[in-house]
Amino acid sequence: MVKSKLVFICKSCGHESPKWMGQCPGCFEWNSFEEKVKKQTKNGKRIAKSESASLVNVNEIEYSSDQRVMTGIGELDNVLGGGLVEGSLVLFGGDPGIGKSTLILQLSGRLSASGKKVLYISGEESASQIKMRANRLTIKGEHILLKCETLFSLIEESIENEKPDFLIIDSIQTVYCEELDSLAGSVSQVKEITARLLNIAKNKKITTIIIGHVTKEGSIAGPRVLEHMVDSVLYFEGESSLSYRVLRAVKNRFGSTNEIGVFEMTSHGLVEVKNPSKYMLTGKPVGKSGSVVTCALEGTRPILVEVQGLVSKTNYGMARRSANGTDNSRVNLLVAVMEKQLHINMSEYDSYINIAGGLKVAEPSLDLAIITALYSSCKDLVVDDSILIIGEVGLTGEVRAVTQFEKRVKEAKKLGFQKVIAPAVNVKEIKKIKGIEVVGVSELKEHLKEL
Ligand code: TYD
Ligand code: MG
Repeated sequence: MVKSKLVFICKSCGHESPKWMGQCPGCFEWNSFEEKVKKQTKNGKRIAKSESASLVNVNEIEYSSDQRVMTGIGELDNVLGGGLVEGSLVLFGGDPGIGKSTLILQLSGRLSASGKKVLYISGEESASQIKMRANRLTIKGEHILLKCETLFSLIEESIENEKPDFLIIDSIQTVYCEELDSLAGSVSQVKEITARLLNIAKNKKITTIIIGHVTKEGSIAGPRVLEHMVDSVLYFEGESSLSYRVLRAVKNRFGSTNEIGVFEMTSHGLVEVKNPSKYMLTGKPVGKSGSVVTCALEGTRPILVEVQGLVSKTNYGMARRSANGTDNSRVNLLVAVMEKQLHINMSEYDSYINIAGGLKVAEPSLDLAIITALYSSCKDLVVDDSILIIGEVGLTGEVRAVTQFEKRVKEAKKLGFQKVIAPAVNVKEIKKIKGIEVVGVSELKEHLKEL
């Protein structure tokens, strides 16, 4: 018998409650609860039963380590921790139009070329649109089966009949399940469908990739509500106005979440960027004040970025402060440190910081570069183009150590920098590196003198 139960589900975070509430205790959103009839279908019971609950000793569990499939897209393999794991469920999220379908179609092409059967379910585009894209990406797709369908029971039927090695759902927000009476894309729909896909992936060993749009808080559920259900969560980030994209793992049951992959959107689809530092520094102004290069760490990967600072006389009573690409409150704090330690009356100036290239970095190792960029703009002093600046700054103006220092210096050397100004503590620890001068500073004032 099918029982039904009344529940209230938050539209923005998916929090469930037996009672209606004005404010969601999960995400503190007001007026976000919607009434839902939750049917306990037979399927729910099957999930519970299919997992055998017998006790096994950890040492006796047999497993084969050869369960990964290299996708052939190096940056993607890295982010996944060495390829796709067989039978895993991967959530691939990102803003609409960022290039999710493009990357996954390229991935399907690679998989198909290596003889794997891919079932591509598209709920957003027509077959001819996808064919056009495949032509543009020069994908042959011998083993790619395409189905433009949004009803889950029919999708399930195709999976049953075709038994693919890989399943792509593009996107989760378009697929719906008849048994639930809410709209496609609502929290209850995306959760139910993901649970069913998880069941299929694990039982039939079909590696499944779910594409999900990250949407503004509202009536359509973003992929965030699914993060806990899947094995890996990848996000594709970037500004739509810029051509490069960063692929980041925020959850990975089969690897670290430290790696990032960098791609560039071209007229032939997404191309891997092997040297992101060089990419980030293209277009850097030469001989201009307010521009400083530093080295940030993205996971385990050093990337050189340009920090731009602009300080101008304020026209209002209160100085404006704004940071683009980094933590705003950190910049406010650094401005206060400048005021106190360098005796500049920063309340007379508006200060702006921008991380050029559109990368988002919230690492304290940027502090010294941020202060230098603001100081350089304020005093109209040009920082030499051959100098790279690294270091965290404390509240008393001390320059503090950063992690993985040697790696950063080597990256600077690789890109032709001749001098690195860095925390004295770090400099003492490493051996001399040939071809690059490394100068240690322990105080903000000492650093400015060194410049
Ligand atoms: P798409 O993969 O459809 O985005 P998503 O699935 O994340 O919504 O990519 C859309 C954008 O990518 C579109 O604006 C056009 C651009 N694009 C290229 O620049 N080059 C290409 O080769 C392709 C296929 C798309
Ligand atoms: Mg798409």
